[in-house]
Amino acid sequence: MGINVWMPRVTAIVEHSLPVTKPDTTHSDLWADLTAEVQNCTLCGLCNTRTQTVFGSGNQHADWLVIGEAAGEEEDKQGLPFIGVAGQLLTEMLRAIGLSRDEVFITNVLKCRPPENRDPHVDEIKHCKDYLQRQQQLIKPKIILAVGRIAAQTLLNTHEPLTKLRGNVHTFNNTPVVVVYHPAYLLRSLPEKRKAWQDLQFAKQTLIAMENKSCVDS
Ligand code: URA
Repeated sequence: MGINVWMPRVTAIVEHSLPVTKPDTTHSDLWADLTAEVQNCTLCGLCNTRTQTVFGSGNQHADWLVIGEAAGEEEDKQGLPFIGVAGQLLTEMLRAIGLSRDEVFITNVLKCRPPENRDPHVDEIKHCKDYLQRQQQLIKPKIILAVGRIAAQTLLNTHEPLTKLRGNVHTFNNTPVVVVYHPAYLLRSLPEKRKAWQDLQFAKQTLIAMENKSCVDS
């Protein structure tokens, strides 16, 4: 009727804030909700070509969050991350620093397989990044291992090559990030395996140094 309805300012703010979680919502409720959301996701075209989504696997309370690029053929079939040949090498790489797959949480930037294993598109990464951040918020890892160029560039929001990013401690939402070569790349360039070993040792030393520091500080 031409009358402007006055809305208190706070209403507008609440509309744009994160979904309100009930006070009694537990970690496992939130984890289950996120898992279901990813399973039913139709935010990008990959939902039309995937066999199934790949949410991730391992310990939901891990100190280590291992993030790769996207599912390949085998992962898409089985719904689990890093289970092809590259996955076997990743398992060995983790074992080299004393970690089993059950002790870490392994996931990917994209929760679906891009057709023919092409590089993820910008819009696909944009939609999936929210899932990754929510996984991080729930797991609360002490350290993130960014496996390969796509994971590193996505988490660090940069186009810098991997050679420039490795060997430093970066952060993603306040969690330290160490970059390592992707096992699929290492399978093609065996001489780089030594560098991957150095990266893993660097990541392990970073976590030890952080734990020692928090011991001294407390
Ligand atoms: N398998 C995955 O799950 N992620 C990769 O980045 C590569 C293979």
